[in-house]
Amino acid sequence: MAKRAKIAKVAEPKAKRGEKLRILISRKRLQKRITEMAREIRKDLPGEPLHLVGVLKGAVFFLTDLGKQISGDVSFDFIAVSSYGAGTHTSGQVRLTRDLDSSIEGKTVIVVEDILDTGMTLQYLLRVFEQRKPKRLRVAVLLDKPERRVAAVHADYVGFTIPNEFVVGYGLDYAERYRNMPDVGVLSLGTGADKKE
Ligand code: PRP
Repeated sequence: MAKRAKIAKVAEPKAKRGEKLRILISRKRLQKRITEMAREIRKDLPGEPLHLVGVLKGAVFFLTDLGKQISGDVSFDFIAVSSYGAGTHTSGQVRLTRDLDSSIEGKTVIVVEDILDTGMTLQYLLRVFEQRKPKRLRVAVLLDKPERRVAAVHADYVGFTIPNEFVVGYGLDYAERYRNMPDVGVLSLGTGADKKE
């Protein structure tokens, strides 16, 4: 009998002292929902070349998994913004830190975000993109936290609506850690921790 190949165990980030991590959405549920979202998107826009624009850095895993599941022509680009000030709360100021590589004029663009929180980032991006005359502009977010919304924006495709908790994993970080966790978890911080998403 042929020897079975050993599957390497994925090294996952461990919670540090004072941090407690609880899985909110398992990797299995994430992948199942992303496949459904990809089908929904393709069903709504049959036969169209789709240009996925990922918002760095959090959306990287979502964009790559979603992109693999959408059939037909799909191209990618990335943009980076700085959405939060130095404190615990959003400053409401959004600044472009890396622009797209190519023009979106005449393209069917899908903005891909890991999380829709206050909506300030998305509001800013939609304004910028609308001025560039795409054929269509749609929004796909993996996680939606409607309780936190400040700006009047909505996503066309939502993976999961979640409560107002501090989430990490699958691209989302706490001080740049936990992004590589394959699941989405809720992080609780002990006293004295610098809570900044
Ligand atoms: C997060 C997330 C969104 C934004 C959403 O990015 O990826 O872009 O915040 O928040 P909002 O709806 O309140 O504007 P973050 O600034 O943490 O950067 P990152 O993706 O590099 O982690």
